[in-house]
Amino acid sequence: MSFLPQNFSINSKLIGGELVIGGCKATSLVAEFGTPLFVIDEADFKVRLNTWRSALVRHFGDQAGQVYYASKSFISVEVAKWISESGIGIDVCTGGELAVALAADFDPEKIEVHGNNKSEAEIARAIEVGVGKIVVDSHQEIERVNRLAKSAGKTQSVLIRVTPGIEAHTHEFISTAHEDVKFGFSLASGAAWKAIEEIEAAPNLKLLGLHCHIGSQIFDPEGFEAAATRLISLLAKYHQHFDRQLQELDLGGGYGIAYLPDEVTYDPDLAMSALAALVKAECLKNKIAIPMVSIEPGRAISGPTTTTLYEVGTTKNVELDNGAARRYIAVDGGMSENIRPALYGAQYFAILANRTSKATSTSSRLVGKHCESGDILISEIDLPSDINPGDLLAIPATGAYGRSMASNYNHVPRPAVVAVVDGTARVIVRRETQDDLLALDVKESPRKI
Ligand code: LLP
Repeated sequence: MSFLPQNFSINSKLIGGELVIGGCKATSLVAEFGTPLFVIDEADFKVRLNTWRSALVRHFGDQAGQVYYASKSFISVEVAKWISESGIGIDVCTGGELAVALAADFDPEKIEVHGNNKSEAEIARAIEVGVGKIVVDSHQEIERVNRLAKSAGKTQSVLIRVTPGIEAHTHEFISTAHEDVKFGFSLASGAAWKAIEEIEAAPNLKLLGLHCHIGSQIFDPEGFEAAATRLISLLAKYHQHFDRQLQELDLGGGYGIAYLPDEVTYDPDLAMSALAALVKAECLKNKIAIPMVSIEPGRAISGPTTTTLYEVGTTKNVELDNGAARRYIAVDGGMSENIRPALYGAQYFAILANRTSKATSTSSRLVGKHCESGDILISEIDLPSDINPGDLLAIPATGAYGRSMASNYNHVPRPAVVAVVDGTARVIVRRETQDDLLALDVKESPRKI
């Protein structure tokens, strides 16, 4: 391969057949930090933070609310600092994600707390540190947040997560706004209106507005627009009923990215321009003022910035029933640091990263080292037939939901994350060791409980 497909991070290049990211050679990174390795292009990440923020501001003007980076896609203390420095907000959905944001000294006012089953301890902590918003997700939670805010002597600002009844065009596991789903309050059944009434009656809650998130890895603007249209009609109903307006509309994340060379990442400017036109038209039609509009991209920021480097360990030529051959190439990771192919049938692309090859391409299957036949990273890809043990392979666009969903299956330590910029590299999440894993095994005498 002589040129890099556009789905590698912005500061990636091929020099003399070798992949170079942020000015650092793949071979040098691997020699220093080992494999598998998540390599995050720091400058690319920062550009994407700003691009989403400026697209929101460009198209919504004074009605631009906040960009909340969805930390579930990938977070570490260092990355939380980049986000904080860029001036945007952060969406956390567990006490753990909140702890990372706080460890990075994130301004609590710019933290938004999600989750369909927040514990009382998580809610109490969020209120105690003064988070800007809690997005309430169930009737029980309205009571809990109100009670815990009261005992803290505070009034907590909240949004209501509304389920607008949209079938988003994506994998069913990452589609979140149809009726039969665990998230939020259904619009159609009246649960969302009931939640509004409950919050209005709760003395320690302040209702700021409405939220929805229709799903993830979505390219079709229709779903976003249909959801916004339905939420705006609920804002209008609120206006008619209470004779005042809710100030905020948070339309969630979900913008799709390119995993394969022929795919195209959702353009933030196009996304925001279409959404702004729709929101303005719908507000006009419903005779309400345009609310502050917020969004929560995760994958669209973190996903394209990161490349995973692997070392090839073994290869095998397997004869298929139809007489054809398939080349199995096994790398030193797999479903533990990238569960997405096994879980969602997600498709990825890979290149040979340490040298050029003049060998012919052969149909190959890229697999991991775990004890499952389904431990497949790429089911079918043409790769040079001379790829051998010791070669490096690079998979781009692995920044979202890779490291953040990584497991220790087969007692495999999770990989390090290294940030590269201008020819420098530094570890931002260190590699786990076998000692880290063994440290969880404790020897305790049985005691009565
Ligand atoms: N806001 C809320 C309330 C969410 O639940 C999510 C993702 C986001 C924002 C960010 O969505 P994004 O912009 O990253 O698509 N593990 C799956 C994705 C699950 C997404 C969960 N919620 C995957 O690997 O595709």
